[in-house]
Amino acid sequence: MKAVLQIQDLSISFGNNHVLKSLTFDVMPKEVLGVIGPNGAGKTVMLNILTGTLQPTKGKIFFQGENITHKSITERCRMGVGRTFQVPRPFEKMTVFENVIVAGVYGGGLVEKEAQKRARGIIDKIGLSPKINWFAGKLGLLDRKRLEIGRALAINPKILLLDEVAGGLTESEVVEILGVVQAVKKQGVSVVWIEHVLKTMREGTDRVLCLAEGRNIVCGLPEEVMSSKEVLDTYLGVDER
Ligand SMILES: Nc1ncnc2c1ncn2[C@@H]1O[C@H](COP(=O)(O)OP(=O)(O)OP(=O)(O)O)[C@@H](O)[C@H]1O
Ligand SMILES: [Mg+2]
Repeated sequence: MKAVLQIQDLSISFGNNHVLKSLTFDVMPKEVLGVIGPNGAGKTVMLNILTGTLQPTKGKIFFQGENITHKSITERCRMGVGRTFQVPRPFEKMTVFENVIVAGVYGGGLVEKEAQKRARGIIDKIGLSPKINWFAGKLGLLDRKRLEIGRALAINPKILLLDEVAGGLTESEVVEILGVVQAVKKQGVSVVWIEHVLKTMREGTDRVLCLAEGRNIVCGLPEEVMSSKEVLDTYLGVDER
C-alpha cells in the first residue's frame, strides 16, 4: 500500500535550537498515527511544517506521491491537508454552522451553497447538531474541540492533523473525542494525532510514533511503543500524565 504522507529527512533549526533532526516517517491510507513526545520536542513545529506554516531547513514532504515541500498553505489545504490548532480559534461571534461554512469556503475553496450542504453532515459527525445555531463563543471546551475538528473537516481533507484535541478534557469527554476521531477514520481519512492524553493513543490509534530529541525514536503498535524502553526513558519516565 502506498503512503498518503511521506516525511523524509525533515530538519528545522531556530538559531542554535535544532528542533527536528532528520525526522522520517510515513502515514498510510486510513491510518490513525499517534504522535507522542515530551513538551518542546517539536510536535507542533512538525505539524506547522506539514501544513506549510514553517519551511524546513532540510528534507521533503510527499502528499499522495506529490512533493509538497514548497507548496503554500492554501495549496496544501485545497489538496486535502486539514489541521486543528492546539488552542481552538473559532470565530466566536459566528454560529457553529457559520464557522464550518466559512472554513469550507475560505479553506476548502467551496462555493457557499456546497459548503452549507456539507456543513450539516460534518456537524452531525462531530456531535454538535443540537448546538448548530449556538455562537461559538458560548461553547464549552469539549464542544470547541469538536468544532475545531469540524472546521478542519470542512475542507474535505484526505489527511487530518490533530494537535492535542483531547488536552484539558475530562475522562468522559476524552471518550467523546475518541468517538469523533473514529468517525473521521471510518470516512477514509488518515489522521496524524499529536496527544499527551495517553488513553487516546492506546485506544484510538493504529500506530504510535514517539518524537524526542528531534527524531523518530520509535514507531509501531501502540502498546509496544508505550511500553518500550526508549519511550519510558525519554518521555513517560519523566513526564507521565
Ligand atoms: N516560530 C518559532 N521560532 C522559534 N522557535 C520556535 C518556534 N516555534 C517553536 N519553536 C521552538 O521549537 C521547539 C519545539 O516546540 P513545539 O511547540 O513544536 O513543541 P511541542 O512538542 O509541540 O510541545 P508541547 O507538547 O508542549 O505542545 C521549542 O523549543 C520552541 O521554543
Ligand atoms: Mg505542541
